[in-house]
Amino acid sequence: MIRIATETAADGWEIEYLLDTAFAPGRTALSSYRLREGVVPVAPLCLTARDDDEMAALAGCIRFWPVKTGSAPDPALLLGPVATHPTRQGEGIGATLILAALERAQESGWRACILIGDAPYYRRFGFTKSDTLTFPPPTNPNRILARALVPGGLDGVTGLVSRWTGS
Ligand SMILES: CC(C)(COP(=O)(O)OP(=O)(O)OC[C@H]1O[C@@H](n2cnc3c(N)ncnc32)[C@H](O)[C@@H]1OP(=O)(O)O)[C@@H](O)C(=O)NCCC(=O)NCCS
Repeated sequence: MIRIATETAADGWEIEYLLDTAFAPGRTALSSYRLREGVVPVAPLCLTARDDDEMAALAGCIRFWPVKTGSAPDPALLLGPVATHPTRQGEGIGATLILAALERAQESGWRACILIGDAPYYRRFGFTKSDTLTFPPPTNPNRILARALVPGGLDGVTGLVSRWTGS
């Protein structure tokens, strides 16, 4: 049984260790990290996954940041990083984290979610390639995926994804 919880400060070092383990070296050089610098994450959507045992090690995690999408006045969500420990992949932990976080995002009224990732994995969660959004280079345009969280949440959303500066 997997227990999903909101990330706390005490999870910090374990999350960094898990991300270093799950991703290739140099992950922080990815353009998506530039969009997160100096921006506060969306804390209620940052989740951890552990076995339902008080002492269980971290099995997976997911974080979200707000981002500016073109000239849209309100922010969209940037999904990621999301990671499952290599020894726990394929058990549905990634899907559980993504679905739990997107449900919370919808309950909170977020209009849209975007990410850089593999369409074959994310399409099961309703993400499709965006033909209207661009990311800072170097980003493969085929990996820019988006999903509305409310009806029409991506209507007219076009242009460069950039750091959310509050306006
Ligand atoms: C991507 C990741 C989070 C998925 O976590 P997970 O807990 O293994 O995911 P789930 O158990 O929910 O789903 C596993 C399924 O997704 C598939 N899958 C995983 N990564 C995939 C990818 N990049 N493209 C296509 N399918 C993928 C698996 O083959 C498996 O398929 P199956 O259900 O048909 O057997 C995990 O593989 C991971 O941490 N990868 C390294 C970090 C990373 O790349 N994060 C995403 C960055 S965009």
